[in-house]
Amino acid sequence: MVSVFPKGFLWGGAIAANQAEGAYLADGKGLTTVDLMPTGPERFQVMLGNIQSFEPKEGVFYPSHEAIDFYHHYKEDIALFAEMGFKALRLSIAWSRIFPTGEEEQPNEKGLAFYDAVFDELLKYNIEPVVTTCHFDVPVALVEKYGSWRSREMVDLYEKYTKTIFERYKNKVKYWMTFNEINMLLHLPFMGAGIVLTEGDNKEQVLYQAAHHQLVASAKAVKACHEIIPDAKIGCMLAAGATYSYTANPEDVWASMERDRESFFFIDVQSRGEYPGYAKRFFKDQQLTIVMEPGDEQLLKEHTVDYIGFSYYSSRCTSTDPEILAQQTNGNVFASVKNPYLQASEWGWTIDPKGLRITANQLYDRYQKPLFIVENGLGAVDVPETDGTVNDDYRINYLRQHFEAMAETIQDGVELIGYTSWGPIDIVSASTGEMKKRYGYIYVDRDNAGQGTSKRSKKKSFEWYKKAIASNGEDL
Ligand code: BG6
Repeated sequence: MVSVFPKGFLWGGAIAANQAEGAYLADGKGLTTVDLMPTGPERFQVMLGNIQSFEPKEGVFYPSHEAIDFYHHYKEDIALFAEMGFKALRLSIAWSRIFPTGEEEQPNEKGLAFYDAVFDELLKYNIEPVVTTCHFDVPVALVEKYGSWRSREMVDLYEKYTKTIFERYKNKVKYWMTFNEINMLLHLPFMGAGIVLTEGDNKEQVLYQAAHHQLVASAKAVKACHEIIPDAKIGCMLAAGATYSYTANPEDVWASMERDRESFFFIDVQSRGEYPGYAKRFFKDQQLTIVMEPGDEQLLKEHTVDYIGFSYYSSRCTSTDPEILAQQTNGNVFASVKNPYLQASEWGWTIDPKGLRITANQLYDRYQKPLFIVENGLGAVDVPETDGTVNDDYRINYLRQHFEAMAETIQDGVELIGYTSWGPIDIVSASTGEMKKRYGYIYVDRDNAGQGTSKRSKKKSFEWYKKAIASNGEDL
């Protein structure tokens, strides 16, 4: 049978510097926002921006400091990805490895050399690097000095950083993305954009001004990428997941539309090149003033993204009924009411394969640009058998259902260029800082407190994904 997945479909996995690399101060790297996020309940407070000190505290465990030490294990890990037949690996560059404080005159050569080595290793196996320029990590020095993306200064600093990496890796990297889950800024300001909110701040004013700075910075990166690497594609990255209306009550339907627009807002600007009417109305109603510089609007208009990258874990659901609203569930920090038709993961994230098809169709209808699913997967507790094997049938089931939904999506006429599942090797969880929330095909022997050998071993899903890739999505 001929596969419905296009030839050259980019099957692979996705990781982020701060959740995989460790080596948090090695070879001149500067402190980054995630390096200040502990595990446990305090993490959520820090992600929200309730943070007292910009130094790691004595005696506190910060999972990013060692993570899974991809920094020293990348050859071994990439060999395993190659064995699974990966066509692509999505990873991010840590800004503070290249410019430790964000403001140096010259980039840090050791940081640049590290990514050269990683890209060379990938290319050796014909694995396409797909690079996010910024995945939840702002150099801490820029947070202290400028208040991070509150400040317009960040636009130039980010431009300098991105031009540096485009120049350096122009012969090696042809797929780029600007900000990971750019819409996270509205939900977890410190995690998403290094923003600390203080008493007296008009929260929405601060966040939407910061959003404008990121959108301008993103457009500048698109421009620079196209100039420096004419054969590259550069995309945006949305934390996606369609919001369903709990009932057919028009009030609920409208509420769900508004929830979706909170996210679409960013991509509307990055992909269509202008602020949508509903956003202008929102700014007016809320009395927000977005300060723009001359030329910003033209820049946004002229430098739109080539493709829409998005993560999909769950659909969302909303209501205007206070009793229903009281039954919130988790779900990638996007508060959602519990959908009675769906099951959830051990962390309360709704499992909805059909939602992937709905979300992708919605995005394609809206933007008519190629889509790239750059994150998806099941975070679960894996318990190794006595012989060390991990029989993760639950993960295989989750993935199979999502791959089937992808196949439907392609047959719906949606142009899908790739799929990189989240955490193909177990890495630190972004939302909780735990190791026990695992997504991988490859098990890493390390626990929540950082104990373990860090030894890598294949789970049952390893062979399953290998077959799925080899058959281009046919043999599931
Ligand atoms: C996305 C992030 O929000 O979800 C990743 O881009 C993150 O960084 C992923 O790891 C899964 O979330 P978690 O909290 O289970 O790690």
